[in-house]
Amino acid sequence: ARIVVLISGSGSNMSAIATACASEEVDAEVVAVISNRPGVLGLDRAQEIGIVTQVVDHKDYASREEFDVHLMREIDNYEPDLVVLAGFMRILTPDFVRRYKGRMLNIHPSLLPKYKGLNTHQRALDNGDNEHGVTVHFVSEDLDGGPNVIQAVVPVTSNDTEETLRTRVQQQEHVIYPIAVKWFVEGRISMIKGDAYFDNEPM
Ligand code: GRF
Repeated sequence: ARIVVLISGSGSNMSAIATACASEEVDAEVVAVISNRPGVLGLDRAQEIGIVTQVVDHKDYASREEFDVHLMREIDNYEPDLVVLAGFMRILTPDFVRRYKGRMLNIHPSLLPKYKGLNTHQRALDNGDNEHGVTVHFVSEDLDGGPNVIQAVVPVTSNDTEETLRTRVQQQEHVIYPIAVKWFVEGRISMIKGDAYFDNEPM
């Protein structure tokens, strides 16, 4: 399977997925990494492991619609079976989401449906939660609202800071995202009419 990964930053999830693909743990290839921000660490990381990289800078486009049209064109050049959002910090237009429906995954650092949006770790701390975590989900038209595929739960300790909690969550991100990708590549997970299925059973 051919995978295009979209990033905006450090690309640690992209690396975890690319490593799993390279190790034959996952029968797929990351054929390109596209960033909407130039100069980010994730682009260097991808190049170091020999992956084609590209920048489609949202600042070069007058509107979200124009940006998305160009991004779709670039993605489609690589003919991916799966589009992976890995720290890609742009809200996507409905047309974009529809185009990759059922073949686009995102990772969000909370136990969705809790804490959609930003600052998830701080919000979990502020609310005194004793557990927190991360979710991989299919992307649907509502932001952070597509059906869940896999979650990891981590404990929150009384001396946690946003930073320590983020680190604990990110370690789990690098475990669960390659698993979700593996399941997709093996045809085990699918999204039908907005619901996720695992081995044809509703999740
Ligand atoms: C991750 O924590 C992800 O959950 C969030 O953005 C971060 C991306 O990290 N949406 P990286 O670029 O994969 O290192």
